[in-house]
Amino acid sequence: RNKITINTLRNLYKKGTPITMVTAHDFPSGLAADLAGVEIVLVGDSLAMVALGLEDTNQLTLDAMIHHCKAVARGAQTSFLIGDLPMGTYETSPSDAIRSSLRLIQEGRMNAVKLEGGVELVPTIKHLTSFGIPVLGHVGLTPQRNNSLGGFRVQGKTVESAKKVLHDALAIQEAGVFGMVLEAVPEEISRMVTEKLNVPTIGIGAGAGTSGQVLVQCDMLGNWPEGRFMPKFVRKYRDIFKESMEGIQQFKEEVRSAQYPAVEHTYPMPAAEVDKFKE
Ligand code: KIV
Ligand code: NA
Repeated sequence: RNKITINTLRNLYKKGTPITMVTAHDFPSGLAADLAGVEIVLVGDSLAMVALGLEDTNQLTLDAMIHHCKAVARGAQTSFLIGDLPMGTYETSPSDAIRSSLRLIQEGRMNAVKLEGGVELVPTIKHLTSFGIPVLGHVGLTPQRNNSLGGFRVQGKTVESAKKVLHDALAIQEAGVFGMVLEAVPEEISRMVTEKLNVPTIGIGAGAGTSGQVLVQCDMLGNWPEGRFMPKFVRKYRDIFKESMEGIQQFKEEVRSAQYPAVEHTYPMPAAEVDKFKE
């Protein structure tokens, strides 16, 4: 297929076609998402948790992010590529945000960046977009702020909190985002916010009223051991971790029982050479 651009996304939004986005964190996960045909591949900072085993996204460095973006970009060649700006790489000033975003684009080969927050990011978003950097916003539950939110909690459940979500969404739209992630808000709120906006909303845990949906690839494919906590909104489309583990177990058993390797896995040597070698 042809490369997905910001125009492709605008056209889908205009036609009311739901946009699909999935995260990726390395070459194979980028390739799989791309070949599956999603429009957007997000190198989310959730890679801190799903690929690096960290407790939250707060420790992720820009260098680590770029390392993963490069790998994803080699695999996902036709999707629109968005990289998360890690915590600490854009809050300090609009020029820090530009510097970090340019690295994600130039070194990481991303097409756009994502940042978490609302009205406080208006000058930053204006600055980035004025230099031709497309920005995807992220409001509702903003995981980078889990310390001030008291954990990974649903937002917008009270009138006050819902008003904040709407206010932030309108403010960042005005500042120039081409769309925004709406995370963990009640469906009524995301539907209402989506109706008031003229840019697409990509929901995660935001119900069915958004312009598109995103899931973390490792979550949706079940690439976690049994018993791992999963948010309510995750649908598990496959059980990849179990498949992987069972495959490795079978390898071990077959090595122990001498079923592996079999003849077809070995390199033949001409019989005459074998005879000479044995002499
Ligand atoms: O980091 C991430 O994976 C995200 C998505 C869940 C939107 O920000
Ligand atoms: Na993220």
